[in-house]
Amino acid sequence: MSHKIIIAIDGYSSCGKSTLAKALATKLEYVFIDTGAMYRSIALYFLRNHIAFDDQPAIESALHNIKLHFEFNPVTQKSDIFLNGENVEALIREMKVSSKVSEVASIAAVRDFAVAQQQAMGVDKGIVMDGRDIGTVVFPQAELKLFVTADPLIRANRRLLELKAVDPNITLEIVAENLKHRDLMDSTREHSPLRQANDALVLDNTHISKQEQFEIALNWAMERIG
Ligand code: DC
Repeated sequence: MSHKIIIAIDGYSSCGKSTLAKALATKLEYVFIDTGAMYRSIALYFLRNHIAFDDQPAIESALHNIKLHFEFNPVTQKSDIFLNGENVEALIREMKVSSKVSEVASIAAVRDFAVAQQQAMGVDKGIVMDGRDIGTVVFPQAELKLFVTADPLIRANRRLLELKAVDPNITLEIVAENLKHRDLMDSTREHSPLRQANDALVLDNTHISKQEQFEIALNWAMERIG
């Protein structure tokens, strides 16, 4: 491979962005960063420490106390996120966090904090990052930008399957409502709303398999890697 690129993957919640990003990173031997996990970990910290989402000074000082890092987990073959040294990968997927994370992610100071770390992770390129503002704000210079979409009901059913493993009481209605709420919050917020970058390639995976989606994206990546 002649040179390394940055692959930015954006899209609505539960579109399979992380699955695709992980597969591409594994194949290309790139670093994979799930930026949603960063916003989720910050939300978990705020919830645990009763930080009001409109208390600017409390937010600023809380951010000073938050250290995030990723570590590769050989069992799951993916990176887990650590909040101040604690592995919170499972905790941040719970509905308690999911129902509040969009509000936390809409706070400007939180975004500045996360984006600065994400940009630092990409200085050497060779990275696949997924989120909502990667192609528009974090890496507007990314060589490949993907915008992933899928039918809302398909997305809710996929998420339900994942959540059932940790929460047997979860229902399709709860999951669908949470996704709708997050989509609305993420795309209408003032700071860095979710939107498709002008030069992003759209991948609608409603009717294609994970493997087909992977192959399409890998071809696009290889065209750019050269
Ligand atoms: O990808 P996810 O569902 O784990 O993301 C959790 C929340 O974080 C989601 O509601 C939107 C927000 N988010 C964001 O605002 N910007 C990103 N780059 C990644 C996630």
